[in-house]
Amino acid sequence: MQPSSVLDRVLVLEMVRVTEKAAIACLSQVGRGDEHAADAAAVEAMRDALNELDFDGTIVIGEGERDEAPMLFIGEKVGRGRHEGGTGPKIDIALDPLEGTTICAKNGPNSLAVLAIAEEGGLLNAPDVYMDKIAIGPGYAEDIIDLGRSVTANVTALAAAKGVAPAAITACVLDRPRHEALIKELRAIGCSIMLIGDGDVAGVIATTNPDTGIDIYFGSGGAPEGVLAAAALRCVGGQFQGRLLFRNDDERARAKKWGISDLDRIYKLRDLAKGDVIFAATGVTDGSLLAGVKTLRDGTVTTESVVMRASSRTVRWVKGEHRNL
Ligand code: FBP
Repeated sequence: MQPSSVLDRVLVLEMVRVTEKAAIACLSQVGRGDEHAADAAAVEAMRDALNELDFDGTIVIGEGERDEAPMLFIGEKVGRGRHEGGTGPKIDIALDPLEGTTICAKNGPNSLAVLAIAEEGGLLNAPDVYMDKIAIGPGYAEDIIDLGRSVTANVTALAAAKGVAPAAITACVLDRPRHEALIKELRAIGCSIMLIGDGDVAGVIATTNPDTGIDIYFGSGGAPEGVLAAAALRCVGGQFQGRLLFRNDDERARAKKWGISDLDRIYKLRDLAKGDVIFAATGVTDGSLLAGVKTLRDGTVTTESVVMRASSRTVRWVKGEHRNL
């Protein structure tokens, strides 16, 4: 028997409609070099799609704070139930209408339209700061990874669990100057490293798919993306830990405003996304997780999406053919 939840089963497929619409809105912007236009198109489409749904939704991770984002700002109410006296379940929403704006602009791999929903209070209200992340796929003993330990210790523990040498481990890392020491340490152990230009939601999820060959994800990226990736791992299995990173007092003050008092806390999966969770993503550009949105010769637009639910552990792959757009 599945645990009860305010997340209606119908919402599972509705979430795909939302990410599909955002991805389709990006189509004309793929490879056009304009990150801003691509993001704006995705944001508007996702917001319109959310506002058609029968729930009382609150954005807890979105495009930024109210004063810096005209749409899908943190705290914005969406769904038909958003109006005073509106009906429908109260739902918290984490979203990134275009995860990998630069990837989309350059037509690189793995840009996604992505969102996660949970019951009210189910998703960490993470400030838009960096988060140090570590993730592995399912099938390992709980807590064999630990952000509090060194990179070498984590790789060694994972290699022992897999029954291979540490040099047989492949790590995925964002290609950034700030990761120089991390990359050096991984190279010293002899690990293979897949360096990605952007898109750490797909990078983290790649650890759950043996076809990618990626065993472990390391490094810092956006905290909002960390919550989204954790939501996905709640549904498919795997382990994730994240620690918020603050570069200045302004970021620390922002965290306090969000109710975060322990600034050094290591968050595990259920600290980031608890209770029942639905995660959905549609490919904008081709990638390891999903094919990108495309137009066929007859004008049909095709999409590939994945939607998952934590309570049932169901993962659905959805191929869409869209006509009459
Ligand atoms: P955007 O979609 O906001 O461009 O994010 C892309 C991304 O690569 C994320 O996947 C990642 O978490 C973050 O940027 C890393 O930040 P930075 O580019 O500052 O290293």
